[in-house]
Amino acid sequence: MRSETAPAIRLEDYQPPAYRIDTVHLNVDLDPSATRVTATLKLRRQPETPAGSPLLLDGDELTLTEIRINGNPLAETAFKADAQQLEVSAPPAEPFDLTLVTEINPDANTKLMGLYRSSGTYCTQCEAEGFRRITYFLDRPDVLSVYTTRLEAPKKDCPVLLANGNLAETGELDDGRHFAVWHDPHPKPAYLFALVAGNLAEVSDSFTTASGKGVALNIYVEHGKEDRCGWAMDSLKRSMRWDEEVFGREYDLDVFNIVAVSDFNMGAMENKGLNIFNDKYVLADPETATDQDYANIEAVIAHEYFHNWTGNRITCRDWFQLCLKEGLTVFRDQEFSSDMRSRAVKRIADVRLLKSHQFPEDAGPLAHPVRPKIYHEINNFYTATVYEKGAEVVRMLKTLLGDEGFRAGLDLYFDRHDGEATTIEAFLASFEEAAGADLSQFALWYEQAGTPIVTAETEYDPDRKTFTLSLSQEIPPVPGQKTSRAAVIPLRFGLIGPNGEDLDVAAPEGAIVAGDVLILDKAHQDVTFENVAAPPVLSLLRGFSAPVRLNQHLEPRDLAFLAAQDKDPFNRWQAVQTLAMRDLVRMTHLCSQDQPATCSKDVIDVFAAILEDAALDDALRALALTLPSEADIAQEIGKDVDPDAIHAARSIMRRDIGSEHKTAFQRFATGFAPEGPFSPDAASAGKRALANRALSYFALPGDAAGQDTVWQRFTSADNMTDRLAALTLLVHDGAPQKDDALEAYRDRYKDNSLAMDKWFMTQATTPGPKAVDIVIALMGHPLYDATNPNRVRALLQSFATGNPTQFARADGAGFELVAESVLEIDKRNPQVASRLLTSFRSWRALDPQRSALAESALLRVSACEELSRDSRDIVDRTLQ
Ligand code: ARG
Ligand code: ZN
Repeated sequence: MRSETAPAIRLEDYQPPAYRIDTVHLNVDLDPSATRVTATLKLRRQPETPAGSPLLLDGDELTLTEIRINGNPLAETAFKADAQQLEVSAPPAEPFDLTLVTEINPDANTKLMGLYRSSGTYCTQCEAEGFRRITYFLDRPDVLSVYTTRLEAPKKDCPVLLANGNLAETGELDDGRHFAVWHDPHPKPAYLFALVAGNLAEVSDSFTTASGKGVALNIYVEHGKEDRCGWAMDSLKRSMRWDEEVFGREYDLDVFNIVAVSDFNMGAMENKGLNIFNDKYVLADPETATDQDYANIEAVIAHEYFHNWTGNRITCRDWFQLCLKEGLTVFRDQEFSSDMRSRAVKRIADVRLLKSHQFPEDAGPLAHPVRPKIYHEINNFYTATVYEKGAEVVRMLKTLLGDEGFRAGLDLYFDRHDGEATTIEAFLASFEEAAGADLSQFALWYEQAGTPIVTAETEYDPDRKTFTLSLSQEIPPVPGQKTSRAAVIPLRFGLIGPNGEDLDVAAPEGAIVAGDVLILDKAHQDVTFENVAAPPVLSLLRGFSAPVRLNQHLEPRDLAFLAAQDKDPFNRWQAVQTLAMRDLVRMTHLCSQDQPATCSKDVIDVFAAILEDAALDDALRALALTLPSEADIAQEIGKDVDPDAIHAARSIMRRDIGSEHKTAFQRFATGFAPEGPFSPDAASAGKRALANRALSYFALPGDAAGQDTVWQRFTSADNMTDRLAALTLLVHDGAPQKDDALEAYRDRYKDNSLAMDKWFMTQATTPGPKAVDIVIALMGHPLYDATNPNRVRALLQSFATGNPTQFARADGAGFELVAESVLEIDKRNPQVASRLLTSFRSWRALDPQRSALAESALLRVSACEELSRDSRDIVDRTLQ
């Protein structure tokens, strides 16, 4: 018998809570295996709730040892408690105090939800439903309470005691114990509760808000890691200033604490005043962190800080509204990074992420709207669709309303809903009112799953001097959504004249806002531009102004023109990608028929021109010279995917581009390093990115001299970006130095787990038939730790998502390895297991032999009797 699918939760069934909890007093007596939690909740029946209605509180793996109402122990007949729920059959009609004592075991908590220990440090993760693993509660985001938390522990083990809010009191107790009381004046849902206790080092700084209030800033890390907190602290201060300047939002407590832990299911968590982070998003120095790590830290620190207003001050009514905080906060962190770095480069990076993660999700069995209508396990909805597409929807709102309308709408939202748990409807209503817009059709972006396909055809009439653009949109069917309605799609565009300048075209009445944005809001629409002297080249979807697939036929010469001339840097990049992609698809078909394939001259020329175009940002050049990934190509091909043919085609393209312009690539590979000591700034990072990209074209597989250069780079690098880039080339290209390099790297970094994650990842993503055996061998490596989510992701997740030919190996060994691992991990940590399981989501697009093998691996997972609800939900939906 297979395990049961958890019951469906539906948006349409939302009911407000029957009781409110005004205050929560927690007394947590910490012990590794027997922590005693005493919770006193001030409960208030809601007027709509009939007096005497039973009180139902959520629990999860809890043991209740005491229960009192207004101080009096409750008769055994007056309540029912099991691990999952507490029912008080006839609670008082008037407000009352409910005191609960529960006992929990942090060391046995391998799910890393609720209270657990990471390298000896007590920490919590309560979003989405972890608080119910600490005490029985109305564990839902629309119950907001003021928390006072008293922590007690031996001072020797836990000199640091932290919880949400401001520190109210500390003191010494008998037997070497001590305590701290924290009070958070801001009412909050339980998912924002946090505590931390342990022996940690503190790195401190301070910030003065725009209105002159001092805020103490602290980052807590394991002893010895203090020197790696500087970048995170700097990012925090810049985030705080930026949110004041750009959104008018100030911080609201006396202290802002960040704690870095090494065992964490996700990236980080915005607990009020006490953010808890996966240490990979805090720790950085040149020796151990790549430029990408620096950028990620900056973005995640900002993201969690920005949640203080978008998430904490204003939270979600229910978990269906998750995008209300996540989409908006991702949008805010993307804007922050754009202001800190190059806006164009950031935009391209974000769109690449959207296309590689969100588009396949939206095109497969796990597709769901930005605001889902139904879920079985909420932890499975922390998705690219909710986060990344959610951010795109907010960005479109800004495009449609203009900067001022957008800011006015957001200000009204903050004013009106501060302190509330609210909805997408309320969010949109603020913009409608402040900007005087009708967003009823725009709201479909939250309701409909699937990526719209926008088809654009153009016609130039030389006699009438008109240029007509025919647009249409449709969303292909996705699970549970056969038909769809036309969305509001803002299309930023330009008509480029022969000299490369945008034409100043007369805007047709009604169809255009803000000068260069055309609004497509019907299934079909024609737009005719008058007085167009010569046939222009259409640059459409500039800046990727909407999360759609654009189907527009451009001749190779038009694409080459856009790649060289478009004043929109995003579309320059896109034109290069489109040229390469078309050629890759053509070459893939040849490779799958074992026919000779070579890269076309057009593509080689465009790449060479980009390399030499010094007017372009270095980072942008590096991005433009990056070939579409194997997964991108698979997506473009869409069905009967043969990963080996894709890999072969892509390798040939790299070889052809590299060998045709060997000396140019060599020049950039070896002569383009930033000067002076290492600095993580965007300009220096761009130089390194371009040099390393050039190196990958110069040092081709089998070229001994080229690989010597890579080895030199590996041994002489003074920073992790260059060292890791070189290591990856040596290993992935099977260079003779690869084993020496892996060994040298391991010796250097064996005591640094974040750096060792990169070592596991590099090997797991090695193309070629040995990968499965390598991964299996590494699972037995002394440094492999199946209980550490970062390590599991580094080895298994990166294999499943970053090694397409070997995950989808034609004999099924890759699928089997991942399915086995999912079953193994699921027993301990369902969230990590179910995330790994999503790597099967595009299985139906594979060729028949491979998809049959993937299906049988999925069926094996599905047959497991003890599957968690997390993995059960993913496997059910993936197979549907
Ligand atoms: N709210 C966190 C963030 O912004 C994500 C936490 C999700 N955790 C989870 N277990 N579902 O990034
Ligand atoms: Zn978030």
